[in-house]
Amino acid sequence: MGTDFQSKRLCIRDMTAKDYDQWKIAQDSMLPAQNEFDDGPVKAPDRSRSFFRSMLLRRGRMTKSGLGVFLGVFDRKSGDYLGELHFALPIRRNIQSTRISYFICNHRWRNGYGLELLKAATAFGINKMQFNRIEAEIQPLNGPSIDLAIKAGYRFECIRKEAVFFERKWHDMNVYVALASDLGIRNRRPKF
Ligand SMILES: CC(C)(COP(=O)(O)OP(=O)(O)OC[C@H]1O[C@@H](n2cnc3c(N)ncnc32)[C@H](O)[C@@H]1OP(=O)(O)O)[C@@H](O)C(=O)NCCC(=O)NCCS
Repeated sequence: MGTDFQSKRLCIRDMTAKDYDQWKIAQDSMLPAQNEFDDGPVKAPDRSRSFFRSMLLRRGRMTKSGLGVFLGVFDRKSGDYLGELHFALPIRRNIQSTRISYFICNHRWRNGYGLELLKAATAFGINKMQFNRIEAEIQPLNGPSIDLAIKAGYRFECIRKEAVFFERKWHDMNVYVALASDLGIRNRRPKF
């Protein structure tokens, strides 16, 4: 199934080795990490073409092993690399759910790209990828991402206890959810 899609200003698509130049310009333009939820740019010594290629290969392997799809977010007009989107941990059959995560390069924040991306990705995930349920699992103190998810139509559902391991410990995560029924699609039969 194709996973490329567009919104008014954005093109969201699979990344290839040809995207290196745009990716590198963005890494060189980004500010240092702006908060604890922002990774900031890739470290300068790792901004090489070979690092980029191995990152794409690693992601390709993760996609093949069922961990989801990684997509680049580009400006439709200029072709600039703006960020990334991940449909993670898809479960099909009678579950039809995925998790969604995203970032916008920090020198491009507050231009409405995050909201445009999340709205378009949610509609695409439900209408075209046929998920019944999309979960945004967000750290409880990540206010910008929580505000963004709510603006995009997600609802708080629960706290998932000890959901993710990083920085040497397990972290609770807030779960925000968008459902096919929110878009008027009820009881669609699973196809995959
Ligand atoms: C969260 C993130 C994607 C927002 O991207 P963005 O392009 O700046 O977002 P937008 O310009 O579309 O903002 C949409 C809304 O999100 C909220 N928001 C975005 N940045 C915010 C901030 N720094 N503080 C408070 N609210 C913020 C606001 O409600 C905003 O609406 P408004 O502009 O009308 O106030 C971006 O900050 C980011 O990549 N953060 C680091 C990675 C991350 O946290 N990813 C989410 C992991 S779950």
